[in-house]
Amino acid sequence: MDSSFRAELFDFHGVSMTRYFTDNWDNVQNFQARPDDILIATYPKAGTTWVSCILDLLHFGQTSSERQTSISIYDRVPFLEMSVPSVPKGTELLDKLVTSPRLIKTHFPVQFVPKSFWEQNCRIVYLARNAKDSVVSYFHFDRMNMAEPEPGKWSSFLQRFMQGKMVFGSWYDHVNGWWKKKQTYSKLHYMFYEDLIEDTGRELEKICSFVGLSPSDEYKKSIIDTVQFDNMKNNKMANHSTISVMDFKISHFMRKGKVGDWKNHFTVNQNEHFDEDYKRKMTDPTLEFRTEIDISAI
Ligand code: A3P
Repeated sequence: MDSSFRAELFDFHGVSMTRYFTDNWDNVQNFQARPDDILIATYPKAGTTWVSCILDLLHFGQTSSERQTSISIYDRVPFLEMSVPSVPKGTELLDKLVTSPRLIKTHFPVQFVPKSFWEQNCRIVYLARNAKDSVVSYFHFDRMNMAEPEPGKWSSFLQRFMQGKMVFGSWYDHVNGWWKKKQTYSKLHYMFYEDLIEDTGRELEKICSFVGLSPSDEYKKSIIDTVQFDNMKNNKMANHSTISVMDFKISHFMRKGKVGDWKNHFTVNQNEHFDEDYKRKMTDPTLEFRTEIDISAI
């Protein structure tokens, strides 16, 4: 896949997007959600694949082990708004899904979610990740994914992130928009990547109670083991190595899976500038992110 495949950013209803996520807009907006659908919503690079695997194992891992070993995660959990040439659109994959509940991935900011999800009162799991690790992960992703806009140099990428000129728009607006929605929409479970790293078992318990499942302790242990970073990295059905637009020679999809890798990318100046700007944009004291965790306590 050559770099001519890379899409350009443009303003779409006030959000930076590329055509690969807007071309199927009418079908996406008219999508008919079902009451038991579970929407997995994230800003890109928050750990979408991780939480998708957890939910998939919870719902289907015990009834069909073949599903896990023969169907890629992006087919098990279709990406609603995806519309990339030569591969089935997210809505087409969803129409063909026979399992229920349907697990559906989206990177939409909250205002873009098709209205049927709200009308059907669907459960939504929102996973958020701190801004600094998100931008680092996004940078490496855009380097290796030929369907993404050209990332350019790290310093300009970071600038663009702060301006919200990324595919799916501003990280700041995304995490805040969904956080606000949580205040009025009770079927939204808002969780954090850093918590999942700190204690996967604790977060799994919360997900179980949110979706109303109570698997055995033994099965929960096996889920935690299956979704460990190294296991997912080596799992062809989870690691995205079968996607032709991704160049693993540049970077892996499962790259590091850590909290705090931003320290290896931000200069002291960039960090100060970022923090000042962050304070201006993130004014809700109830929404707090951790940019490091004490792993010695784990
Ligand atoms: P890094 O690039 O920081 O390594 P998404 O699925 O939303 O695109 O997110 C991808 C990010 O989640 C990548 O971050 C990836 O390594 C990380 N990730 C995926 N599975 C993980 C796991 N099991 N444990 C920890 N991090 C994981």
